[in-house]
Amino acid sequence: MTIVPVSLGERSYQVRIEPGLLDRAGEALLPYATKRPFVVVMDANVAQAQWPRLAASLEAAGLKAEPIVLPAGEPTKSWAQLEALTDRLIELGVERKDHIIALGGGVIGDLVGFAASIVKRGCSFIQIPTTLLSQVDSSVGGKTAINSRAGKNLIGAFYQPALVLIDPNTLDTLGVRDTRAGYAEVVKYGLIDDFDFFEWCETNGSKLMAGDAEARSHAIAKSVAAKAGIVAEDERETSGRRALLNLGHTFGHALEAEMGFSDKLLHGEGVAAGMALAFAYSARRGECSSQDAMRVSAHLRAVGLPTGLKEAGVDASGATLVEHMLHDKKMSGGTLPFLLARGIGQTYLAKDVDLADVEAFLEEQRG
Ligand code: GLY
Repeated sequence: MTIVPVSLGERSYQVRIEPGLLDRAGEALLPYATKRPFVVVMDANVAQAQWPRLAASLEAAGLKAEPIVLPAGEPTKSWAQLEALTDRLIELGVERKDHIIALGGGVIGDLVGFAASIVKRGCSFIQIPTTLLSQVDSSVGGKTAINSRAGKNLIGAFYQPALVLIDPNTLDTLGVRDTRAGYAEVVKYGLIDDFDFFEWCETNGSKLMAGDAEARSHAIAKSVAAKAGIVAEDERETSGRRALLNLGHTFGHALEAEMGFSDKLLHGEGVAAGMALAFAYSARRGECSSQDAMRVSAHLRAVGLPTGLKEAGVDASGATLVEHMLHDKKMSGGTLPFLLARGIGQTYLAKDVDLADVEAFLEEQRG
C-alpha cells in the first residue's frame, strides 16, 4: 500500500492507495466507526459497479452501513440534491463525529463533502473515489461544491476529508473516454513542475490507458503526492501555489462554457485542450519554446485528448471565448490570472495577461 500524507495540522489525513483496497475497506474503516452505521452516498451507476464490494467488506468487518443512492450526472451537484441529502442525513441522526462516506466520482465527492461541511455545522467525511479524475485530483485537497444557476462550483467550502481510500481497480469499469479525461489531470502534474514525470507519461500513458495496473498505481500515487504537497503549502489558494493546479483551466473553462458544460466536452477534455492552448499561448508570448508547446500537444493528441478549439468541437470567436473567461470564478479584482509556462515543468502564474491579446490568439487558433 502507498500512503500519502496530506499535512494540514489538525486537519491532516492520509490518502491510501492500493489495488483491491475496496475489498478491504471495512478493515481500514474500523478505526473510524461510531455507534451508528456508516452512511455511504453514491450514484446509481456506482451502486451497481462498486457498492457490492464495499458493502461486503463492511459486513466482513462487522460494520453496518446505510446506503444513499443519488441520480448519476452533473445535475446532482444542485441545491435540490443538497437539500434532499442533508435532510436524509439529519433524518438518519448523523452526528458530527460520524464519517459520511462519498463513494464515487467528482460529483458525489463534491456534493457529499459540501453536505458534510454544513450538516450540524460540520460532520466528518471520507472519500472513496472511483474515477481516475477523482482519484488524482478532486478527492484530495478539500474543495467541495455544488453548481449554481450562474456557473459551476460557485457554492461550496474548503472542507478536508478525514481519510481518502483509493483502489485503482475501480477503474476497470470506467469507460475509455472518462479514463482519458482523468488522465489529462495526471499529465498536468508533470507540466506544472515535474519534467521527469511528463517524460514518464510520454512513455507510459498508453499503457495506463490500456489498464496496466502498475502504470495506473504509479500515476495515481505520483499525482496524489504532487497535489498533497501543493495543498499542504496553500490549502485555500491564497499564496498562488495551489493556483498552479488550475493549469489549463482558464482556457478550458471557456471551451467548457461554450459547450454548455455538457457531455459534449468533459472537464478533463477541456483541461487537456486548455493546457495545450496555455503552452501555445506561452510560446506565442516568447516565454516557452515552440518545441515544448508542440511536445505537450503531441502527447495529449497521442492518447486521444483534444488539443485545440477544433478538436474540442468549439467554433466560437476569440471575443466569445474571452467573454466566457470573464465569468470564471478565478476572476480577482477585475483581472484574470493565467497559468502560463516557461517550459515543460515550469508553469507559473501570470498576472499581466492582456485579454485583447488572448482574444487575438484564440482568433488565430480558430483559423
Ligand atoms: N482541482 C484544483 C484544486 O483542487 O485546487
